[in-house]
Amino acid sequence: MQYNFDEIIDRRDTGSLKWYYTDDTIPLWVADMDFKAAQPILDAVEQVVQHGILGYTKPTDALYDSIIKWHGSLYDLQLTKQNISFSPGVVPSLALMMNVFTEVGEAVLVNDPIYTPFMSKVEQNGRKLVLSALKEVDGKYHLDLADIEAKIIEHDVKLYLLCNPHNPGGRVWTIAELEALLAICKKHNVAIVSDEIHQDLTLTGHTFIPFLTLAKGYEHNVVSLTSMTKTFNIAGIKGSMIFATDEALVKKISQQQHLNDEYELNLFAYRAMRVAYEQGNEWLTQALNYIEANIDVTVQFLEKYLPKIKVMRPEASYLIWVDCSAYAKDDQVLYETLREAKVELSAGFKYGQEGHLKMRINVACPRVLLLEGLNRMHAALGVTATSS
Ligand SMILES: Cc1ncc(COP(=O)(O)O)c(C=O)c1O
Repeated sequence: MQYNFDEIIDRRDTGSLKWYYTDDTIPLWVADMDFKAAQPILDAVEQVVQHGILGYTKPTDALYDSIIKWHGSLYDLQLTKQNISFSPGVVPSLALMMNVFTEVGEAVLVNDPIYTPFMSKVEQNGRKLVLSALKEVDGKYHLDLADIEAKIIEHDVKLYLLCNPHNPGGRVWTIAELEALLAICKKHNVAIVSDEIHQDLTLTGHTFIPFLTLAKGYEHNVVSLTSMTKTFNIAGIKGSMIFATDEALVKKISQQQHLNDEYELNLFAYRAMRVAYEQGNEWLTQALNYIEANIDVTVQFLEKYLPKIKVMRPEASYLIWVDCSAYAKDDQVLYETLREAKVELSAGFKYGQEGHLKMRINVACPRVLLLEGLNRMHAALGVTATSS
């Protein structure tokens, strides 16, 4: 089936987080796509409604099989049913991991910049947040391994929260980078939780490596968090998975989840997840092609009309991290200037100190909307340019 990603679907007044406006603002911010979900997923949700009984539910063996097959065939990540737990979201799981691996007051290391909840969940849970800035070399972020090790020693870090693929920088960390990181964590007995929610959106020319595939001998200290919601644009359904391959660790995770009864999903999530993994590939391939073309359009537009913006081309997902420092001096003013021009981007400063004067553009929308958003960005920043 051929999907039409150019279709503009009005999301106003649907309770959409992304489209909360009452005016004609173009939202290129929070990470969901303005594309209709895959037909098999929509059919499955409809079948649940048609069946008519929406009672208590639990994961079936067929669901576990679909998850095991997807991860085995795409990433050579060999899982068993016992390795898989469910959670309402990756962010709730990040928070849960504080209690699995650390005590109140202990240090947790994250990179800067980073998807905001990595920082907020550490602090809200009474842990000590330690930041290691990513190094920008040749338009790409790199882990600063020397800094990571120094910070681990200095703060007696217990847990490292990795984001792979990285949000907002779009890096898909290479096997060499991940192995080097693992060696440091092993040396200092630091646990690793890898948020891999953007894994299936890896773009042409890059290879996603699940952290668990490298963890042999260190499985007791490694957890991966992932979800079908980002891949298939069904975030409103809520649902995610926690993968751990060490038996004692799985037990500990389960105990923590039971404290707040946080291990069950709803009927729609279970059903959508299985169908997504079994029948969603056709949609995903087409969505990724459309997204890659939107990335090209954005990069070319910015090169032509806002040439002083430094663009970090993503290796995965549909979020483009751009450095606007040539066009602005103040973070809040930059954000508001764009808002006044009726285009909303994610403000870089919310992603850490390294986000100063940066913005994140979500390009997963019909191209006409994207171009209108970019034109508004040009109109706003072209006028306020501080250097020509
Ligand atoms: C890196 C990362 N982790 C987690 C999430 C959100 O996950 P969930 O909706 O499952 O809590 C996002 C959403 O953008 C994300 O980018």
